[in-house]
Formats: sequence, C-alpha cells, structure tokens
Amino acid sequence: MDDGTSQVESIVGAGWSGGIDAALADRATAALEAGSVLRLPLPFVLEPGETRIVRDHVLAGHRKNVSLGPRAQNVKGAVEDAGLRRVLASACGRYQRQTAELAQRLFPAYLAALEIGRTSFRPAEVAGRVQQSPRKDDTRLHIDAFPATPVHGRRVLRFFTNVNPDGVARHWQVGEPFEQLAATFLPRVPRYSMAVALALAALRVTKSVRSEYDHCMRHIHDIMKCDTAYQRAAARQDVHFAAGETWIVFSDQVVHAVLSGRCMFEQTIYLPVTAQRFPVRSPLRVLERLTGRALA
Ligand SMILES: [Fe+2]
Repeated sequence: MDDGTSQVESIVGAGWSGGIDAALADRATAALEAGSVLRLPLPFVLEPGETRIVRDHVLAGHRKNVSLGPRAQNVKGAVEDAGLRRVLASACGRYQRQTAELAQRLFPAYLAALEIGRTSFRPAEVAGRVQQSPRKDDTRLHIDAFPATPVHGRRVLRFFTNVNPDGVARHWQVGEPFEQLAATFLPRVPRYSMAVALALAALRVTKSVRSEYDHCMRHIHDIMKCDTAYQRAAARQDVHFAAGETWIVFSDQVVHAVLSGRCMFEQTIYLPVTAQRFPVRSPLRVLERLTGRALA
C-alpha cells in the first residue's frame, strides 16, 4: 500500500447470475480480506414500474434512507403511499436476493456462514446535508460500527450499487489500513464496562449487550470522526463510483468517507470471523492482538 491507503480492486466477470471463474473468486476473496474495495461494472436495473423511486419524493420526515429487513415485507422510512411502498419493497427485495446470490458465488468459502442483514435504498444527496453531530457525519473518514446493533465480532460485509438516474458518480474517499488506524485510536478508547453495556441493553439503547469489541469499534468510529486534525491530515484516496457500478467492502475494516452522490442501494451481510480465509486480518483479531485479550 504505497500511498498508505486501502486499495481498489477491479473485478470483471462476476454478474448477478451465471458462473464465476474460480481464480476470480479466489482473487476477490483475498482482496476483500486484505481490506480492498472491490469494484464491479455491474448495474442494478430498475424495472419500468420502479423508476419512480429515483425521481419521486420517497423519504418520510428527516429519514436518510428507506430500508427493508431480511424477513420483512414492508419498508421503513418511506412516505405514506401504499403504491410507492410496494415498489420500494419489491426493488429492495430484489437487490437483497441478487446481492446474496452474488455473495455466495463470489465468496464461495463463506457460503454457509453468510447472514443477510438489512437492505437500504438511499435516494438523498449526501453533499450539503446538515449534520447535527460529527459522529453522524459520514463525509468524515470512519469505519462502520453500529450504535444500536452490536455485532459481537462478526464482519460487516456491504454491497453498494449506484443507481443515480442522471449518471452522476458517488464520491468516496478510502483511508489508511485498519491495522494503522487501530494502533492510533485504540489507546484513546475508554475502558469497557460490562455494567454499562448491560444498562444500555436494559434501556434498549442497544438491541443486545454490547461486547468489548463493539465498544472499541464504536469508540474508534466516534473518536476518529471528532478528531479534526486526523480528518484534515489522514492519507486518503478519492474514488468515484459511476452510475451502474457495484462495490463491495468489509466496511468495518475499510476506512471510508462518503462525500457526494444520491440514489444508491446497499445490502448488509454479516459473517463470522471464523468463516474468513484469514481471520487474523479481521478487526476483531487485530484489536485482540493489540489489547492482548478476547473482546467478543
Ligand atoms: Fe460508512
């Protein structure tokens, strides 16, 4: 990593269906686990009845996205319009199925271990969005660590597809490798308290009891976003994902910022660290090496 940032790996020859060459799958899995962003020329095509979702006003209130749970029939975050909600659920459901199938074929080693999470459609423009808090500002470099949904060490594998109707790219920046980031910020993470973790779960601030791993990841996320000097000076690479491109990352590992773009689908998939080819590269194992103890 010459410039101190994560790499972008072009993956050509993997579609939503059909066979994938074993050598390509091998290269994709190795690059993904090494902390690269996989970039695929792979559009998600809306059906004729669905195109209104990229043109019409679809978001309720101040919501940033519409989402569909893995077993849900109905979307969350959309305006009260039954017809529109049906169309959103249909498009999100199809994106969920297609990305799940692609994950199984592109990463065959993970096949039995993949756990499908939420799907989201993100129609709103990122640039110029008013942020109440730097912690919520995804235009700052960060890793994904969910405040309310502990993962207990599982990997966060995310698929994204730009469906911008005007052909405008989504502008990302990718930053330094996770090992470097962790070495900088882990010493600044406050001590973990099981009592606090139990209280957060009892108060339903978190959906389950936050593990020490989740505690470390969430604090690294917050501290790096609030560190103005880091945000100004950290090494980064600009990446523009064209409309019609799909990209795949372990977003708990790849330092990233989203600067602009509108209309994107996203699928979250969870993966146990033990299903990885090189678990030693996971954030869980990196943080455990640095702390010298089990964290999840
Ligand atoms: Fe993110």
